[in-house]
Amino acid sequence: MTEPMLTVKDLHAFYGKSHVLRGVHMEIMPGEVIALLGRNGVGRSTTAKAIMGEVPPKGEITFKGQRIDGLESYRIAHLGLGYVPESRDIFPMMTVRENLILGIKDMKKPGRWTIEEMLEMFPNLKERADNLAGVLSGGEKQMLTMCRTLMGNPDLIIIDEPTEGLAPKIVQQVGDMIADIARAGVAILLVEQKLSIALRIAARVYVMGHGEIVYEGTPEDFKTRADIRKEWLEV
Ligand SMILES: Nc1ncnc2c1ncn2[C@@H]1O[C@H](COP(=O)(O)OP(=O)(O)OP(=O)(O)O)[C@@H](O)[C@H]1O
Ligand SMILES: [Mg+2]
Repeated sequence: MTEPMLTVKDLHAFYGKSHVLRGVHMEIMPGEVIALLGRNGVGRSTTAKAIMGEVPPKGEITFKGQRIDGLESYRIAHLGLGYVPESRDIFPMMTVRENLILGIKDMKKPGRWTIEEMLEMFPNLKERADNLAGVLSGGEKQMLTMCRTLMGNPDLIIIDEPTEGLAPKIVQQVGDMIADIARAGVAILLVEQKLSIALRIAARVYVMGHGEIVYEGTPEDFKTRADIRKEWLEV
């Protein structure tokens, strides 16, 4: 049996005195796509931030056989863990192409994709390669942020609410793009509210409630669990 690529054990996190993560457990296999679901405010983004070292983690986080809890964020990124935060931060005064170049982590080692291949894969961005990133639509900015992170050649990418605030047609495109990333063999931890997207691409689903994982299963099993949806997801 292959080893998990990422293992999270008994992860806790605090904002001041507020105890937000209360013993999160999670495992992601190489190339696996996981959806992390949950209502607003349950701690999904905090889980992503704690894994990335942006919030101090308490607990054990192992990535590709190495403990990463306690490492600085840039070191974690260099080990091959990509992160696309909710904030879609691009460099608005640089072109799309320049933004992609900034995502490259190791200029000497060729990554999975060159800039040109990346642009071929995502024609929306290719058309705008020489435009300033600041003028892109919300959906295009989301795609650019994902592509920039991919230029760092991650083995696992954590994507936090990529479809939030996007029009339905663009939601579909962003969903297609995440499916393409998964097909390229990159493992994905997808934080997503829209069940349609999550269930379409995930091999396994985790549901979070009050800072803990309250359900874990396949999309097929999840679809039969109206009780879980009612208790932990529906508003
Ligand atoms: N910087 C912060 N300082 C203090 N409290 C925070 C901070 N960030 C988040 N929280 C609180 O921690 C809890 C979990 O927040 P988190 O952002 O992880 O939620 P979430 O599951 O991603 O939900 P959503 O994205 O819908 O807000 C919330 O109660 C939130 O108010
Ligand atoms: Mg969040």
